Amino acid sequence: MKQIAVVGVGYVGLVTAACFADLGNKVIALDIDEERIARLKRGEMPIYEPGLEELVRRNVHAGRLAFTTSYREALDGTEFAFIAVGTPEGVDGEADLRYVEAAAKSIAETMREPLIVINKSTVPVGTGDWVADIIRQHQPEPVPFSVVSCPEFLREGSAIADFMNPHRVVLGSTDKDAAEKVAQLHLPLRAPIIVTDLRTAEMIKYASNAFLATKISFINEIANICEALGADVEEVAVGMGYDPRIGPLFLKAGLGYGGSCFPKDVKALAHMAEEKGRHPQLLHAVMEINADRRRMVVERVKEMLGGALEGKTVGLLGLAFKPNTDDMRESPAIDIARGLQEAGATVRAYDPIAMDNAKAIMPGVTMCADPYALAEGSDALVVVTDWNEFKQLDLEKVRDLMRQPVMFDGRNIYDPEKMCALGFRYHGVGRGYACPQPEADEAEDAM
Ligand code: UDX
Repeated sequence: MKQIAVVGVGYVGLVTAACFADLGNKVIALDIDEERIARLKRGEMPIYEPGLEELVRRNVHAGRLAFTTSYREALDGTEFAFIAVGTPEGVDGEADLRYVEAAAKSIAETMREPLIVINKSTVPVGTGDWVADIIRQHQPEPVPFSVVSCPEFLREGSAIADFMNPHRVVLGSTDKDAAEKVAQLHLPLRAPIIVTDLRTAEMIKYASNAFLATKISFINEIANICEALGADVEEVAVGMGYDPRIGPLFLKAGLGYGGSCFPKDVKALAHMAEEKGRHPQLLHAVMEINADRRRMVVERVKEMLGGALEGKTVGLLGLAFKPNTDDMRESPAIDIARGLQEAGATVRAYDPIAMDNAKAIMPGVTMCADPYALAEGSDALVVVTDWNEFKQLDLEKVRDLMRQPVMFDGRNIYDPEKMCALGFRYHGVGRGYACPQPEADEAEDAM
C-alpha cells in the first residue's frame, strides 16, 4: 500500500484522491479551506460529480481516504504529493499561480523525508521548474525531492470513468527514477504511459485542450456556412467523422465551448506564445468564433421574434456549460442571458441542477420550477444545455403554454421537421432546414 498526499480538494484533487484510494492506496487529501474539509468529513461533496459521493464514502469507510487541513498530517510518511490546486485565469489571460506557489511553499516547509511532488494542475509551460526552485528556496534544510508533471484530462460528468480508463498517462520529469515511481502508481489503469521532460508534458496538456477547442470552433464555423448554403451540419459532421484522420468526436456544433478548462487554457496558451513574441493567429480565431456563438443566439432570437426583443420574455432551457454538471463556469448561458437582457428581453431559466450556482451570477434572471413553468407565457425558448430530460419533453404541452411557439435549439436536440409539424417556429444550429411556408391559398383559407 503506497501512501499519497493530494493537495487541493477541488474537482481534480477530490477525484484523484478518491480514485487512487479506490486503487488500494492510502490517500490523505488536504485543503486549506477548513469549511470544505469539515463538510467532506461529514460526507458532503463540494461539487456534483456522478458516483463521487459513493466512491468517497466507500474509501473513507475502508480507511484508505482521509481529509485534513494539516500539511504535517498529510505529508508524514508519504512518498508522493500531488498538487491539484486551482489555477484560475489572471487579468491578462495568463494562469494565476498563487495557489500553486502557496502549496509548493507549504510542502517545502513541512517535508522531512524524500518526496516526489507531482503537479496535476494545468500550469504554464515552465511551472514545474519554478515549483522546484520554490521548494529548494523554502526548505529549512535540504531534503531530496523531485518534481513530476502529470496533467489531468478529466471531463466533468465522467471524471471517475476518465480517471480509471485514461487514453494515456503523461509524465514529465528530469528525474527518470521519480517518473518511473509515478508510472508504477498508474500501472493498474493499464493505459499507455508517456514519459517525457517537464516542459513537454505541460505543453501536451495545453496543446490537447487547444486542439479540442479548435475542433469545436471549426465545426461551428462550418455550421454557420451550412446555414447560409442550406446544408445540415449534423450530417456533415457524421460524414466527416468516418475518416479516421478526422474522427467523430468533438464535432458537435452548438453554442461553443465553456467550462473551467477550454476557455482558460486556450487563452493561457495564446498568452504564453505572445509573451515570447509569437502570433498565435489560429488560437485567436478559435476564441473569436466561440464568442460569436453567444452573440449569434441573441441575433437569431431577435429575428425569430420579428426584429425586436423589448417587452419579450425568453426562457433558457438549461444553464450549466454542459449536461450532468452544475458547473456554471464560462457557460454560454451567462452571456446569452446578458445579451438578451441588454436588448430589452425579460429572461427566465430552468436547469435540473445548476440553478443554485447560476442565481448568484445571473442577476435579473428568474428561475423556474420546471420546463413547463418556463414555457408558460414565454415568447421564445432557447435550448442552451443538452440535458437528456429536455429531449423527452411533452412538446405539444410546451407549445400550448407558450405565448408564441418560437424555439431556438442551440444544441440540435430536436428534429426540425417534427418541430415544424408541431407548429413551432423552429431553428436549430447549422441547419438550412426551414419550416415550409403554407401555400398561398391555404394561407388565405387560414385568414
Ligand atoms: C475538458 C476536456 O475534455 C478535458 O480533457 C480537460 O481535462 C478539461 O476540459 P470539460 O471541460 O469537463 O473537459 O468538458 P468537455 O466535455 O470536454 O466539453 C467542453 C465544452 O465543449 C462544453 O462546453 C461542451 O458543450 C463543448 N463541446 C464539446 C461542444 O460544443 N461540442 C463538442 O463536440 C464537444
